[in-house]
Amino acid sequence: MEISKLTSKKISNNLKIAEEYEKYVSKGVAFKYFPVAVVRAKGAKVWDADGNEYIDFLSSAATYNIGHTNEYVVKAIKEGLEDFIHYCLYFYHEPAVKFARLLVEITPGNFKKKVAFGLSGSDACDTAIKASLLYTERPNIASFTYSYHGTTYAVLSASGSFNPKLRKRMHALPNVYFFQYPDTYRCPFDLSEEECGEYYLGLIEDFFRTTVAGDSFAIFLVEPIQGDSGVLVPPKNFMQGLRKLTKEYGIVFADDEIQAGMARTGKMFAIEHFDVEPDLIIVAKAVGGGMPVSAVIGREEILDSALPQTYFLTSCAHALSLRAAIATIEYVIKEKLAERAEKLGNYAKKRFNELKDKYEIVGDVRGLGLLLGVEIVKNKETKEPDRKTALKIIWRCWEKGLLMMTYGKYGNVLRVAPPLVITKEELDKAIDIIEESIKDVIAGKVSDEIIKYLRAWE
Ligand SMILES: Cc1ncc(COP(=O)(O)O)c(C=O)c1O
Repeated sequence: MEISKLTSKKISNNLKIAEEYEKYVSKGVAFKYFPVAVVRAKGAKVWDADGNEYIDFLSSAATYNIGHTNEYVVKAIKEGLEDFIHYCLYFYHEPAVKFARLLVEITPGNFKKKVAFGLSGSDACDTAIKASLLYTERPNIASFTYSYHGTTYAVLSASGSFNPKLRKRMHALPNVYFFQYPDTYRCPFDLSEEECGEYYLGLIEDFFRTTVAGDSFAIFLVEPIQGDSGVLVPPKNFMQGLRKLTKEYGIVFADDEIQAGMARTGKMFAIEHFDVEPDLIIVAKAVGGGMPVSAVIGREEILDSALPQTYFLTSCAHALSLRAAIATIEYVIKEKLAERAEKLGNYAKKRFNELKDKYEIVGDVRGLGLLLGVEIVKNKETKEPDRKTALKIIWRCWEKGLLMMTYGKYGNVLRVAPPLVITKEELDKAIDIIEESIKDVIAGKVSDEIIKYLRAWE
């Protein structure tokens, strides 16, 4: 059946663009959800090619913390355009200096820091890996199962969310070892949160002692909250224990703040929830306010162990984009977006927990600030993941004017990551839409047919 027969929503213009896109764009680029062709976006709202209006719970994958087409940032871009767009770093420019200084100032770590620039989260993670290999002169990379650090060759190899078949066909780097990230919702043996932290840490310690020596590892790539696996918040003792362990073995602790950083979780950097000082911090997405910007900030001796050109990209530290990034950081600070994320996040969590009390299929609500996950299950007792129902819920949400994605280990977690400037009214309306959609799906009002159109995260 054609997709347009499955919905009463007006989508003809969107479909035309989607069809052309499929003709010319590789299917390897991205998962695809609804036929939405974005034509305009402002604050927490998005409009498509058929004039449909949406509340945005995705923020372009946690990019628009400051909201779409933020006026403060747009002004900085317009002003920058009058001077020059970019000049590569064979010479110097002021935006690079200002941006690097700002990053050094706002990141945790009371030691001498420097910055390396990039364009996307993936290349910045690559930079962190290169810096650590060069600094330690060790061969191995540690990462977590179900982690996501990007798609350039090294980080695709070091991401735990690509299936073994793809890894094999790609000849993924063989020097990467994956450890289990704590999952407090599904922790074995019904352990308490603290015991769960100890348990998962113990697995790493044992491996270092018995299988591959801890001091052969150059880097531990760590998401402070594991996003794409379904918003897993690790116990504090786990993160602190991991920091201690990496120090003992001389492994670079690299904190990937690409999804969780820039005030989203209620702190500027999510790692601050754990009172942990990383050696390297990786930022991208939200730091550019919508422009392609990434960076690694960290110990001077680690980042300076590379020879010139090791991190070079012709367009890195892209001057116009950095003007946007500087304005973005200023805006996040002056508008106290971290506090706002905490307050609105607590409110949203309270409302989602009410849904959890009401509906058997809402198994878990977790996250910090406005990085939240709502896990859909067959029932609360078995916790059996229910990806199909989760997809039907987001489909109905889309029909009712809310853009939301699913992700997670089992593809059954509703991804709640709106712009931090979302109003309370918009947030309430979005959660009302989710509740109505849950009811419609439970009542059998959403056809199974829609599943095949959602080429969603699995
Ligand atoms: C935690 C994390 N690391 C790295 C990346 C890769 O960033 P990018 O897609 O900007 O290359 C992402 C993107 O989703 C991410 O969520």
